[in-house]
Formats: sequence, C-alpha cells, structure tokens
Amino acid sequence: MAVRPLVASPDGSAISILDQTRLPHEEEWRRLDSLEAVATAIRTMQVRGAPLIGITAAYGLAIALRIDASDQALGEAAAVLRATRPTAINLRWAVERVSGAARAVPRADRARIAWAEAGAIAAEDIAACRAIGDHGLGLLRRLHQAQGGGRPVRVLTHCNAGWLAALEYGTALAPVYRAAEEGLPVEVWVDETRPRNQGWLTAWELGQRGVPHAVVTDNASGHLLQRGEVDIVLVGTDRTARNGDVCNKVGTWLKALAADEAGVPFYAAVPSSSIDWSLADGRAIPIEERESGEVTHVHGLDGTGRVTAVALGPAGTPVRNIGFDVTPARYLTGLITERGVAAASEAGLLALFPEQR
Ligand code: MRU
Repeated sequence: MAVRPLVASPDGSAISILDQTRLPHEEEWRRLDSLEAVATAIRTMQVRGAPLIGITAAYGLAIALRIDASDQALGEAAAVLRATRPTAINLRWAVERVSGAARAVPRADRARIAWAEAGAIAAEDIAACRAIGDHGLGLLRRLHQAQGGGRPVRVLTHCNAGWLAALEYGTALAPVYRAAEEGLPVEVWVDETRPRNQGWLTAWELGQRGVPHAVVTDNASGHLLQRGEVDIVLVGTDRTARNGDVCNKVGTWLKALAADEAGVPFYAAVPSSSIDWSLADGRAIPIEERESGEVTHVHGLDGTGRVTAVALGPAGTPVRNIGFDVTPARYLTGLITERGVAAASEAGLLALFPEQR
C-alpha cells in the first residue's frame, strides 16, 4: 500500500496530511507544524476517521512539546487536542498515551519521546488494520464459498473506514483490500453518507486501488438489503463500549436494523484503540453535533471545474447536524478486532482481551 494520508517528517518538526476537505476533487497536502494547525485540521476534518485523528493528535502533542515541555503546557496542549472532536475514543486514548510517555521523562526529552510514541501508535495502527483485514478476509472467503463462488461477494459500507481514515488498509475496508490482494472477487456498495458525504471519499480510495464499487444514496441501501443484493455489511467504529455497542457515523444504526430484518450479516471492524473499556454500554457515548452549514450546503465542482458550495434550502432554516449514532450490540453479527472476530458482547470482547477483565 503506497499512499498514506499522513506523513511524519523525519526531524520530528511537522506532519503532512492529505486534506480530506479537498478530496475527491483536489489532492492537496498540508504541512502542520504547530499545535494550533493540528487542532484545526482535526476540528475541520482535514483529517478524519477515528484511527487517523488519534494518530494526528499524538503527533500534534509531540509538536507542541517542542515549544514548551513543562507539565502545564503538556496539560494545556492535551486539553486543546481532546476538545477537537468528542466521539472517537482514539483521540483521547492517543493523547493520554503520549502524555503518559512524555511525563515519565525529563523535560528535555519529552518532545523526542512523545514523537516516538506517536510513531509507535501509527505502527500499531497499521498492524491492527492489517490483522483486521486478515480476519475479515476469512469471513468474505466463507461467504464466497457458501454462495458457490460464482460471483463477487457484495459488501455494503457506510461512511469512510478505509485507508483515508487510518494509515494503510483502514478498518472496515481492510477485508476488502485483503480480498482484492488475494484475488477474491468483491464489490462494494458505498453509502453516500450525508451530510459530509464521506462515501465519495470511500469511492475515491476504492477507485485508487481498483476495487469495483458503486455509490448509493443513504436511503437506497435498505432497498439493496431487502432485495438480496448485499452479502455482508462492514462498518467502522468511533467508539465501542464494553458490551459491544458500536458508535459510528450517523445512519449506521438504520443500516443495522435493515440488515437484521433482511437477514444479512452485519459486522463492525473494531481496533482495540476504538474500545472504551470504561463504558458499560453505548448510552453515555458523547455524540458530536456539528455546524448547520454541513447540512444546508453541499460542496462540489461547478461548471468551471472549481470546488464551490451550494445552498440547498432557504437561508435560516433550523437544522440539527448529528454526527454519530449507537448501534446496540444485539444488531451486530460480530466485531472484527485485530485479535480475531468477537461476539458483540462483553464476554466476547473479554475472551479476546482478557487483560481488560
Ligand atoms: O466524522 P468522521 O468522518 O471522522 O467519521 C468517521 C467514521 O464514522 C468512521 O466510520 C469511523 O471513524 C471508523 S474509521 C476507520
């Protein structure tokens, strides 16, 4: 896998990110060399997706420590980063992990140790996504065999949980990429995912890797499930509770309900960095609500080839822009983790992560 959406500079001074607010129309890289630039990139979704915002925040903390490595500055920088987006637990987890590593050493070493810790988080994420891909590939192989091997396995996904949202394979799309690498035929239905339309990011990255796919409007995927045109649903997660409740991009729950009704297996890809072991269930997961402009306007290419925003309705229309929802564990066929496929329950997760008992 060649392109990564984040590249760390060798001297520890900055990261470069592929600006996801410009995709899929423009491939623009941005150099982030200050805490403020990193926090803005996460808040405005120039970087997005739970694993990637965790990794970005980890590097952001290391960059901040180059300027001031005092306990107070460390605490303040961590607070700034934690406040950028509330739902994905990866962000808090990564900031706490880098803070802990930095606090354990003298001030003079803090920036270097924090940078190394961020690098370790990035490397672990790549390994976890690859392992999720292998475990998910097993599920896709079984589906292919069960249907006689005559046609591609048809996957439905929601939002973007591929390599743009992590570093290499992504989470929910990792099994798809592993299938493509192994020559297992697979096709992907991509939910458009209003209002931010991350489905177009998914379509773009699948296209980059040559994986057959088609975008459908969010409301159409229920129809595909009902008509037997989907073999498996694969989604990511921003935060999964101890009991297997999965919080992911808004609309995930409705897909799970439809999949349940249609008898189609529904899996979430869950790296352990996305599990909030402190939460008994998903009810207390903070759900991000974003600015109304994301709903009232769409961005796209105009007739002159420029990216432009277009208003959809009357100015001043009241809007609620809810970013995530929680799918109760009972609607999940399983959770694909880096340690294997778990039943979506506390017992299922603890069987794979006994250290969290
Ligand atoms: O608001 P976003 O685009 O950051 O939301 C992303 C998702 O909901 C993804 O499905 C989730 O982060 C998993 S990414 C591997």
